Amino acid sequence: MKSVRAACGLAVAAAALASMATTASAETLPTKGAQYYQKVCAKCHEAGIGPLLLGRGLPPETFIYFARHGSGPMPAFRTTDIDDATLKELAVHLSNSSAPAGAK
Ligand code: HEC
Repeated sequence: MKSVRAACGLAVAAAALASMATTASAETLPTKGAQYYQKVCAKCHEAGIGPLLLGRGLPPETFIYFARHGSGPMPAFRTTDIDDATLKELAVHLSNSSAPAGAK
């Protein structure tokens, strides 16, 4: 009985480690789209200039539309700024993102 419980605990620990590893690699190996977000969009959208985009579950199309058209003080981004494939990557990345720690 004792050994069954020990094995069980190990499995839980292994699962926790595995999920940590996934998170770490997603952060250390960002896609081009995620990098563009960090370099460009986050300068406004994580600085209180534009609304927070992370963790809102907005559809990818929304990010693509705003990026291509701009909105008020936000500039429009042309295909020479960010190509369609990279923008789509960025949009999917944001759509699937979770809110940063501490954000409401
Ligand atoms: C120069 C600062 C700036 C940059 C850079 C910028 N934005 Fe914005 N963004 C804004 C502001 C300000 C608003 C609010 C616009 C308004 O009120 O009309 C906004 C609005 C948005 C919205 C609508 C959000 C909402 O809740 O209404 C989306 C989506 C968006 N931006 C996506 C992006 C993406 C994707 C990028 C990078 C490709 C980006 N933005 C880069 C300033 C910026």
